[in-house]
Amino acid sequence: MLQERIADLSKYVEPDRVRREVYVDPGIFELEMQRIHERYWIYCGHESQVPKPGDYYTVQIGRQPMLMVRGKDRKVHVLYNRCPHRGNMMCGDRNGNTGEFFRCSYHAWTFHHDGRLRTIPMMESGYSGTRFGPDNPDCSMKKAARVESYRGFVFASLAEDGPTLLEFLGEAKIAFDDMCDRAPEGEVEIVPNCFRVIQRSNWKIFLENQLDALHPSVTHQSTGRAAHEVEKEIAKKAKKGEAPLSYHMLSAFATVTIDKWDAFQTLNYPYGHCILTGYMGLRPQDPDTLAYDKVMIKAYGKKRFEEIVGVNIHHVLIYPGLSVQSPLQQLRAVRPLGVDRTLTEIWHFRLKGAPEPIYRRSLAYYNLVNSPSTLVNADDLENFWKCQQGLKSEGGDWVTFGRHFGRDSEKAGVVETGPNMGTSEAPMRNQMKAWAEYMGNGR
Ligand code: FES
Ligand SMILES: [Fe+2]
Repeated sequence: MLQERIADLSKYVEPDRVRREVYVDPGIFELEMQRIHERYWIYCGHESQVPKPGDYYTVQIGRQPMLMVRGKDRKVHVLYNRCPHRGNMMCGDRNGNTGEFFRCSYHAWTFHHDGRLRTIPMMESGYSGTRFGPDNPDCSMKKAARVESYRGFVFASLAEDGPTLLEFLGEAKIAFDDMCDRAPEGEVEIVPNCFRVIQRSNWKIFLENQLDALHPSVTHQSTGRAAHEVEKEIAKKAKKGEAPLSYHMLSAFATVTIDKWDAFQTLNYPYGHCILTGYMGLRPQDPDTLAYDKVMIKAYGKKRFEEIVGVNIHHVLIYPGLSVQSPLQQLRAVRPLGVDRTLTEIWHFRLKGAPEPIYRRSLAYYNLVNSPSTLVNADDLENFWKCQQGLKSEGGDWVTFGRHFGRDSEKAGVVETGPNMGTSEAPMRNQMKAWAEYMGNGR
């Protein structure tokens, strides 16, 4: 039955609309896991999450429980979190240090950090003359087919073939360059731990929302207005007539109106990656910013410094599972759990060598805008759940992405929205175009 639907898959996506089944059909979800998440490059984590040999972090890739581990050779390995003996999960905790080697809790088989079998209790007496033992690769923990990292960000692909990580990222690698270049030392380190949110909606709904510049001034209007009222009150009483910057982070949702969002631009790339350009107002002339500028100029020189802080990015979406806000050193990793269940991990990074107040400022944004406790996140979650409910219904067959359709321009494979069309639905069209290609290629 599933095979029959596979043959029809191309009919689910048109350039400006998509059938609702792609969000609600469990059979399509299974195919997505096989053909997209378990084939292409998925973000595992940052190297600084596992600084010492034996440090590990578990991570879900498609339907596969995996773990990222630092070896004694300093290399980061990505393995299936499964013992080859009888299938026991190797690490039950989310993260930790496994010591000199992995030791299965069931019958004590042990493994090197790269997954190779190390010992089996009484191996000689128990296994001599059998096909099991160190020479049989099936007795080692299975590795991800490919692991690569870019500027400390580790990705794995569960397929032997396909583009390299850099070929896959293409222009979207700017997410990591922009984040790291803003550090005086040229790299970032993880802020432990992340926020985790389970959304009662399909994974694609989250991704489509990330570059949806039309929604903030509608969805988050009530949050923005409330913050703006308080901001004005504080400003009235404050000596210098200004409220702390953190109020601005929320009030912007009310004061940045749709026409201002339209001044931004979207850039849409192969593999479904997209960028929303737009200045985030992160260069006020307060003493903290000036102190940071000074450290940066010392590290890079004036010219390079201006280039770095002048990068005009609001958001980078790396399909199919990563949304990066590089100027604020945060990212959200998407882990689909089921057709209507999605985990997002919300991570924050520290700019190495930057003064503490700069970290505090981005931390405030992390808590106020991206954390599960903020009204902003709650606004979005409510929409996501309601979309999923509506899509399950028979009230319509299509989801439409027609805003500014037909007005994009294409140069060398990059689709750009025209002037004053920042609220275009071009990023959603691009994601679904890539989706159809991924799903078709897996046939
Ligand atoms: S299941 Fe791991 S040692 Fe038996
Ligand atoms: Fe939102």
